[in-house]
Amino acid sequence: MSGQRINMRINGRDYTLIPGKDFEVTETLSELLRERLGFTGVRLSCKQGACGACTVLLNGRSVLSCMMLAVEADGCEITTIEGLPADDPVILAFANETDPGYGTAMQCGFCTPGFVLETKSLLSENPHPTREEIRDGLSGHVCRCGVYQGIEHAVEKVAQAISEEGK
Ligand code: FES
Ligand code: FES
Repeated sequence: MSGQRINMRINGRDYTLIPGKDFEVTETLSELLRERLGFTGVRLSCKQGACGACTVLLNGRSVLSCMMLAVEADGCEITTIEGLPADDPVILAFANETDPGYGTAMQCGFCTPGFVLETKSLLSENPHPTREEIRDGLSGHVCRCGVYQGIEHAVEKVAQAISEEGK
């Protein structure tokens, strides 16, 4: 693979990169995105597939970017949190969650990009998830601040709002 060009579209912009020159062939996608290309919304915590912090969208589906090599993303379209508009409904749902009894959906914000992108992926596959399906869909994500109730409620509300809009 070293020396061959690979192509990716990241947040709407095309990149052509040479493994072995622009990045090491052994680098993960998370390392390439965060450390080489500056997409610091890709959080790195466990680096072993156990926390969900490094989640990105690969061709619209959530993946753990610490668990795949950068070269495996050749030809793919990638979205990090930086690629979503500030008024994305899922971002707004997380930012605005304050309903009594649920608390916030964001405290320190470290886990938030991963949760938001997982929610995007979940709702694109299943626009009307039940509470159990939301829990199941987000179960690979760890929030060290423990605001799980607020997150679940924010996702329920944004799913409902999107489905109302579609009526
Ligand atoms: S950093 Fe990738 S799953 Fe934890
Ligand atoms: S809000 Fe702090 S880790 Fe989730």
